[in-house]
Amino acid sequence: MSRTRIHNFSISLDGFATGEGQALETPFGHAGHRLHEWMFATSFAAEMFGRTGGTCGVDDAFARRFDPGIGAEIMGANKFGPPGWQDDADWKGWWGPDPPFHTPTFVLTHHPRASIEMEGGTTFHFLEAMPAEALEVAREAAGGQDVRIGGGPTVVRDFLAAGLVDHMHVVQVPIVLGRGVRLWDGLEGLDADYEIEAVSSPSGVTHLTFTRKSA
Ligand SMILES: NC(=O)c1ccc[n+]([C@@H]2O[C@H](COP(=O)([O-])OP(=O)(O)OC[C@H]3O[C@@H](n4cnc5c(N)ncnc54)[C@H](OP(=O)(O)O)[C@@H]3O)[C@@H](O)[C@H]2O)c1
Repeated sequence: MSRTRIHNFSISLDGFATGEGQALETPFGHAGHRLHEWMFATSFAAEMFGRTGGTCGVDDAFARRFDPGIGAEIMGANKFGPPGWQDDADWKGWWGPDPPFHTPTFVLTHHPRASIEMEGGTTFHFLEAMPAEALEVAREAAGGQDVRIGGGPTVVRDFLAAGLVDHMHVVQVPIVLGRGVRLWDGLEGLDADYEIEAVSSPSGVTHLTFTRKSA
């Protein structure tokens, strides 16, 4: 059974998954890279960015769950590019010629364009569809494997609100951002639908896993 999963989704103590003022030079707005420092320190990230070294502890173990069993990703337009990318015919995402997805990757946008084939197995497809419809398309492309919802917070929130997420890994980072885009707004009572576990890491972050309760 193909599941819908979220991994390494990092939020501040006050629930923001990105800061205010996203731009080409600041993909996470005023948050800078503070939401993902825990991940950049891991050997998983080192391998991803062609470096050596990195930690091999709790954070690394969680970070590595990003890839296995995933056959497609769905992401939002604001994860794919800064405001206005839709006007740039050459924009191919932040990640260079070989993005870290390595699967069909569906970008939800009200400004669809032709698909872009990248190196390493990532093909970006642009889709204007409701979450359930988008999931159906991504599932088909995933060939029986799981579908990852990659963010940002608006898209994650929409999939959670629609009851479409089977497993979610949220990383609570001990910073207070104060402004940006929040994950939890409008999701009152969401916890009732999930088995929730928490693991504290020596790095200071808390890994929270939400696994949908079986019916
Ligand atoms: N903390 C983390 O772990 C994490 C992970 C991923 C991303 N991020 C960050 O999150 C930020 C982006 O998040 P966000 O909440 O601003 O935006 P987002 O979720 O990436 O994208 C929202 C946008 O996607 C399009 N969209 C969403 N649903 C759609 C649908 N059903 N049909 C068609 N288009 C649809 C709309 O854009 P249009 O109307 O313009 O097409 C909408 O404004 C970035 O700063 C990114 O770096 C953080």
